[in-house]
Amino acid sequence: MSGEDEAMPDREGHRQAEDANRILWDEMARVHIRAYTEVQLLRDGREILDEIELREIGEVGGRRLLHLQCHIGTDTLAWARHGAAVTGVDFSAEAIACARRLRDELGLEAKFIQANIYDLPSLLSEKFDIVYSSRGVLCWLGDLGEWAKVVAHFLVPGGIFYLMESHPILNALEEQSPGLLSFAHSYFHLAEPMRWEPGGADYADPSHHLEHPSYEWTWTMSDVLTALLKAGLELELLNEYDRLFFRLFPSMVSEDGRWYTLRQYSDKLPLLFTLRAHKPG
Ligand SMILES: C[S@@+](CC[C@H](N)C(=O)[O-])C[C@H]1O[C@@H](n2cnc3c(N)ncnc32)[C@H](O)[C@@H]1O
Repeated sequence: MSGEDEAMPDREGHRQAEDANRILWDEMARVHIRAYTEVQLLRDGREILDEIELREIGEVGGRRLLHLQCHIGTDTLAWARHGAAVTGVDFSAEAIACARRLRDELGLEAKFIQANIYDLPSLLSEKFDIVYSSRGVLCWLGDLGEWAKVVAHFLVPGGIFYLMESHPILNALEEQSPGLLSFAHSYFHLAEPMRWEPGGADYADPSHHLEHPSYEWTWTMSDVLTALLKAGLELELLNEYDRLFFRLFPSMVSEDGRWYTLRQYSDKLPLLFTLRAHKPG
């Protein structure tokens, strides 16, 4: 199965799902500015970027970095601390307001733009050395082909795109009894997003029960790669890791409160992937 087999993307349907998701993300931004441990770590001058991404992206000093789906700007500001000239983009007005307040509090240089990434090429004329996106971004996107074109559009020739994301195999799995994962959903992309009802616990503050629904798409590894290759990018690196940045399954354990593993599946199941590609120069 591939994206080629699906019906033409329904942009109007996507917009409705995105509008609903934006309302949810406004709610979550208000929760996350209090609940994200990264906010306090940044205030304390500590590193919040992971050694994987620091190593795989390399030196960013003096380079222009565009952060797509930057949420409350924590990672964007961390890249600014490493010397990048950063621009963060998110469609949640609350998230962007939080990001700007945090930037001002920390005294860092960063530009934050409230925009749907699909609209960004008509709103922003700059080009970038690095386009970066990470941790929980793809499921909110209804059209991966268009997303990849946006990524390619903003790169200078020779510029790199870097993605760190939960592994797509996880979309198919559920923990139906403690410690035992089973295949409960399709691995493959469906044109219609999955609707999640309100009431679920927020991933950063489980005491907060979400008041709004969400609409999420699943994408396979080949969907991601094909979209980027079709947009003209050349793949440099694709890595898989057995740790995840949030507690997806109840039996996941964390030693540092930031990265989670599945003891019974360690070394057996990928939980995370990273990807680096460049625009030919
Ligand atoms: C899980 S967060 C990104 C994770 C981020 N690394 C963090 O700080 O946790 C996903 C973000 O994507 C944003 N988003 C979802 N769809 C979007 C779209 N079409 N355009 C722009 N932002 C979008 C949401 O508002 C949210 O802030």
